[in-house]
Amino acid sequence: MMKAVVHADWTIGTINRNIYGHFAEHLGRCIYEGIWVGEDSDIPNTEGFRNDVIEALRELRIPVLRWPGGCFADEYHWRDGIGPKENRKMMINTHWGGVVENNHFGTHEFFRLCELIDAEPYICGNVGSGTVQEMADWIEYMTSDADSPMANLRRANGRDKPWKLKYFGVGNENWGCGGNMLPEFYADLYNQFQTYARNYGDNKLYKIAGGANTDDYRWTEVLMKKSERHMHGLSLHYYTVPGTWQDKGAATEFGDRDWFVTMKKAAYMDELLTRHSTEMDRYDPNKRVGIIVDEWGNWFNVEPGTNPGFLYQQNTMRDALVAAVNLHIFHKHCNRVQMANIAQMVNVLQAVILTEGSRMLRTPTYHVLQMYNVHQDAEALAVHGEFGQYGFEGEEGSLAQVGVTASKKDGVVHVSLYNVNPSEAADIEVELRGLDGGYSVEGKLLAASDIRAHNTFEQANAVAPQPFNGAELKGGKLKVSLPAASVVVLKLK
Ligand code: AHR
Repeated sequence: MMKAVVHADWTIGTINRNIYGHFAEHLGRCIYEGIWVGEDSDIPNTEGFRNDVIEALRELRIPVLRWPGGCFADEYHWRDGIGPKENRKMMINTHWGGVVENNHFGTHEFFRLCELIDAEPYICGNVGSGTVQEMADWIEYMTSDADSPMANLRRANGRDKPWKLKYFGVGNENWGCGGNMLPEFYADLYNQFQTYARNYGDNKLYKIAGGANTDDYRWTEVLMKKSERHMHGLSLHYYTVPGTWQDKGAATEFGDRDWFVTMKKAAYMDELLTRHSTEMDRYDPNKRVGIIVDEWGNWFNVEPGTNPGFLYQQNTMRDALVAAVNLHIFHKHCNRVQMANIAQMVNVLQAVILTEGSRMLRTPTYHVLQMYNVHQDAEALAVHGEFGQYGFEGEEGSLAQVGVTASKKDGVVHVSLYNVNPSEAADIEVELRGLDGGYSVEGKLLAASDIRAHNTFEQANAVAPQPFNGAELKGGKLKVSLPAASVVVLKLK
């Protein structure tokens, strides 16, 4: 029996709800078809947004949504996406499939989407192919209440009051698709662009500098040294790719070895956050600057027969476990990680929703994010223990078999657990230190008889949360029996 202690009277920080953020790019069928179908569509919609998807996104309680990219952000020119739709300029989406983008989803539509799903907007500006003036004008257009050219243009396009915009990214992956820059050059550009990203009225921007690719600690070092005083957040992108970038592995056809490698690579997020944060400590020991993990998740080969530029992949119990592993790591680093955005929201990479015509399904990843949203804005509790080891013969390394994270809010404690072992159940005893008696426990479980289990348009609820009866609370101790490859959230009240 594994043993752990949850210290109910020892908080390690607040879990910023934005750790449960999402990302929607003009890529494949994420925005078009997945979210936006237009007012004239046969698919039931509100002002062009599909009703089924909006409802599912609302239920998920998404705190913040990043848009318009990704790589697309550094070739997006915001003026193309405002005004009467029939007059909007078309462009080629050169990064993603070379398709023609009609710009029917632009700034006004994005803010409306955020209102409909009750999420805060996070906009990423164009550094790679844009100008300082273009970025400055966009911010004025969105947030100024003055009698000024950009605010008046917004009014002419039907929006009188400025929107509230806090999170603003100055470029995306500027080490790669955002301009192939060296960190020194990007840091100078960042300093220049952000100077003109003004605060209008009481709108205060939280400026996010484009951060490192995976383990490029030097990028972080240079950015902190040259730009720390001009930023509130620094981004980090890391995708879990079980194979190589050329052959990433299939989303549904995988074996126990692939499962192990995927879990090990997902757990690597912990080392990345520790080391980037340590680098940042040299210039920011008080952790004023947040790490913004604004792209994370599984990246597999596209589903056979689909456009390689659309990044459409299915989503199984493996994705559910990878989501849980990452969320536990973000909780652990909640003093530094102030936002994380899973990539991407609908029909792209590790999506929470998939659509096909008028049909929609919630993926196993959706269910984990929904089960875990009870941790949003709660106090993270210290957790210690022995969590077993999970390895695979012939493969290097191992990782903890069981993960435990806990938080407290309004007198309610939530303890979430996962078991990454695909074939062995795990029993764990969790001592709840510092918790008064009188609590009862109830829980939810996500598990399936096959690790490749997933939802299809024919069987949309094949994988769905169930009530959990495997937890017992007695004398301040929780005994939990976790099935193989499972995720559990317990509520102690
Ligand atoms: O999410 C897909 C792509 O991955 C994004 O556009 C880019 O920022 C990253 O490389």
